[in-house]
Amino acid sequence: MTERTLVLIKPDGVERGLVGDIIERIERKGLTLVALELKTVGDDVAAGHYAEHEGKPFYPSLLEFITSGPLVAAVLEGPRAVAAFRQIAGGTDPVEKAVPGTIRGDYALSTQFNLVHGSDSPDSAEREIALWFPDLG
Ligand code: CMP
Repeated sequence: MTERTLVLIKPDGVERGLVGDIIERIERKGLTLVALELKTVGDDVAAGHYAEHEGKPFYPSLLEFITSGPLVAAVLEGPRAVAAFRQIAGGTDPVEKAVPGTIRGDYALSTQFNLVHGSDSPDSAEREIALWFPDLG
């Protein structure tokens, strides 16, 4: 079933010059880009995006990181897009969970600075897409 997912190439991915590589992986997988924007966000968008993590020990540094510089926000579309992107991203912990061949497995060492975000469910995707791309129908 075709669905959409919200992807962020976080500030570490932009700073390290990995945007082209990550987008190439997305396209090679067969997912379609339906929105793509470079933007720097403030605490309002960051807090809305990471609302489920409020109160966790890493929450303040997560907000500081995600607002620290430009990131790339994108909407992808395709069959099982949520799971498909999470597969190519690799697990949240880039050493213990992400395997080689995935974005995090190939390029990341830190659970916080883990390069990309992908919605964790179709419901989260709908909420996150409305937050990042309010004009997208
Ligand atoms: P993301 O997929 O964007 O969703 C929540 C983010 O919180 C996650 O990627 C990591 O960047 C971060 N995160 C999750 N767990 C931890 C942790 N234990 N320590 C630091 N950051 C974390």
